[in-house]
Amino acid sequence: MTRSVVRFVIWSLVTVFRLLHVPSEVSAALSDDSLHSVTTRRNFVYSYFYEPPQHGQPMIIFLHGFPSTHRDWAAQISGTSAPEDVGSYRILDIAGNIIDILDHEKVDKVIAVGHDWGAVPLARILNTHVDRVLGAAFLSVGYLPPRPDFNFDAYIAQLHQTVGYDVFGHMKFFAEDDAATILSDHLDSFYSLFFPSDPFVWRTDLAPLGKAKEWIERNRMLPRPRYWTTEQEREHQKRLLKKGLQAPLLWHRGWVNGINNADDATIPLSAYNISIPVFFGLTLQDYIDIPSLTLPPMLETCSKLTVHNFTTSHWVMQEAPDELNEQLNRFFETL
Ligand SMILES: *[C@@H]1O[C@H](CO)[C@@H](O)[C@H](O)[C@H]1NC(C)=O
Ligand SMILES: *[C@@H]1O[C@H](CO)[C@@H](O)[C@H](O)[C@H]1NC(C)=O
Repeated sequence: MTRSVVRFVIWSLVTVFRLLHVPSEVSAALSDDSLHSVTTRRNFVYSYFYEPPQHGQPMIIFLHGFPSTHRDWAAQISGTSAPEDVGSYRILDIAGNIIDILDHEKVDKVIAVGHDWGAVPLARILNTHVDRVLGAAFLSVGYLPPRPDFNFDAYIAQLHQTVGYDVFGHMKFFAEDDAATILSDHLDSFYSLFFPSDPFVWRTDLAPLGKAKEWIERNRMLPRPRYWTTEQEREHQKRLLKKGLQAPLLWHRGWVNGINNADDATIPLSAYNISIPVFFGLTLQDYIDIPSLTLPPMLETCSKLTVHNFTTSHWVMQEAPDELNEQLNRFFETL
């Protein structure tokens, strides 16, 4: 992003097959000419890379999470609106904005790939606009049907009962008013916890209530993970901080505060089960998006499901790019 950090969501619509096979060419291919912007119906600007498909290939849309930037999909930029009120982060509205972008580009059907928070609006696109999707790939975070009665505290209490820890305790910290300041003030420690060289630290020091804040305020550090150099980490931080952390943290605040319940209640039960082809890339060393919790609902709701287990942490794009590309290509070729 020459201009920003991904604040909201960033999509790269790219001609997949070729680009995914040759990741080093991606940056070059995504020139400034391919950077598009659109003002959606909600009056937010979304920026994304768009490459028209060649030789009749389908389009692919990539949705990343937090604290990723579009660069984690190997592209390079974006200026997208970063509204600072939590009400702007209703997932169904974001899903609708992604459809606005497809309309703007006159793309009828796409293949959609979502990682982390990117998987969340992807799920709602499947509930509300499944006719626009040829196939959907979920990475780390699986498909979850609507939950009109969602209550965060009850949810993590139940997770604690099931797996023995809070799983999403850090979200509660991210939802606090001063979280953005604390994270920015202790950036290296925040990165060390979020991109840890030892994935198990998520189980002990990120997921349990209160632990992430404690780690970060104490400036605790682990050695840098193998998948990036000091320079790459600095670049990543620079991109993420361009517009500050306030806005992207609102995804978490919205979820913790149950702002999606009324929207989820509008989705009919008949749209909960997914009958188009779905790929799920499980990340086995992920102690937040835990395979034993993410897989069962997908086995129940996605009738055409392909699962691949990656022996990586949450950051499969960084840790196993070749294996990921191969698996995605294999899935795309079936569509
Ligand atoms: C979804 O599919 C599962 C398995 O076929 C079935 O048991 C369930 O009732 C379906 N749910 C809805 C809401 O249709
Ligand atoms: C993938 O991992 C899940 C969760 O641990 C497990 O249930 C499943 O059997 C694994 N699949 C394969 C093919 O190893």
